[in-house]
Amino acid sequence: KKVVLAYSGGLDTSVIAKWLQQTYGCEVVTFTADIGQGEEVEPARAKAEAMGIKEIYIEDLREEFVRDYVFPMFRANTIYEGEYLLGTSIARPLIAKRLVEIAEATGADAVSHGATGKGNDQVRFELGAYALTPGIKVIAPWREWDLNSRERLMAFAEEHDIPVDFKKAGKKSPYSMDANLLHISYEGGILEDPWAEAEEDMWRWTVSPEAAPNEAEYIDLTYVQGDIVAINGQSMSPAEVLAELNRLGGKHGVGRLDIVENRYVGMKSRGCYETPGGTIMLRAHRAIESITLDRESAHLKDSLMPKYAELIYNGYWWSPERLAMQKLIDATQECVNGDVRVKLYKGNVIVVGRRSGDSLFDASIATFDDDAGAYDQKDAEGFIKLNALRLRIAARAGRKMK
Ligand code: ARG
Ligand code: SIN
Repeated sequence: KKVVLAYSGGLDTSVIAKWLQQTYGCEVVTFTADIGQGEEVEPARAKAEAMGIKEIYIEDLREEFVRDYVFPMFRANTIYEGEYLLGTSIARPLIAKRLVEIAEATGADAVSHGATGKGNDQVRFELGAYALTPGIKVIAPWREWDLNSRERLMAFAEEHDIPVDFKKAGKKSPYSMDANLLHISYEGGILEDPWAEAEEDMWRWTVSPEAAPNEAEYIDLTYVQGDIVAINGQSMSPAEVLAELNRLGGKHGVGRLDIVENRYVGMKSRGCYETPGGTIMLRAHRAIESITLDRESAHLKDSLMPKYAELIYNGYWWSPERLAMQKLIDATQECVNGDVRVKLYKGNVIVVGRRSGDSLFDASIATFDDDAGAYDQKDAEGFIKLNALRLRIAARAGRKMK
């Protein structure tokens, strides 16, 4: 009888709003969030009102998104399949959470979204919704209707007086895009040929490394418990940190990525991504951990990371296993405090310095110069001999080593 729709204000989700009213005869509640996609969200109100929608939620979730989703994920140095920084994946659990919370607040029994039946996003929205509200109903119009082409969608919109800017919709970007404070993504169009290089004018957030300044730029990042709290000595909120790093990275051509990835539903998909701030954060976080984390804690985190990345990609943010892993990851970050200095130069993030009051780096032990008795080189002989014991036993027994 009542459904909460994740509404962007664009053509697709406007058609969905109308289609839901028509097909299910239900009342539609719209939910539009600013998560840093760089588009005004307020215009969604008038568009929703014009479709007769009475309950309209428009929210600025930028701080919550970075503080409670992006930053916790970066504490684990998370990347999917060795490359993807999960810009879209990490935003979906927040949208799912707000959808079911708004359903509860408005007495709705269902939620709806504009993700297709071929992608990851449907899985992420719906796993999240079911995990948080087990009795919720989900309506995914793209899996139900027959408006599977641009023309049919436009015709439906015209037929139902949907207030979309047709001129703008007409010269729509040829890519399927998704943007938030962490990244902007491009799929579809000419990218469906994995051999075809993306056109230069596709990229919106970064200059090409070739066109980046010839002068390197140094930035200092201050960490408290694994999160950046200041840039060049200036304190900033999580969303401010990410916005500023996006600006700096974008200027220096940092964070472009062109990959073919494995979707959870089974297909391979080619995508291009710009993640300037995230690319800087990934490098810098490893640098601060390199002096503050114990070796085995660091290696344990690294061994869990691919699993953690996979569960975020696949849509299991709201799950017992993510919660358990997050507790472990967060526990390791207690001493991850200090400063990292990086240099941005033509698409590169180059770490040049790191320091910390919680550093485990001991120059008196590591030095190649004279040792002051902190480390006895003679101890290494027994260390190596005992570690070699099983190798020698196996070799004497005739086991193959090469
Ligand atoms: N392939 C990426 C992911 O699964 C990006 C998805 C982009 N979503 C979109 N609706 N255009 O995370
Ligand atoms: C979609 O199919 O809605 C976008 C792509 C994806 O979710 O992976």
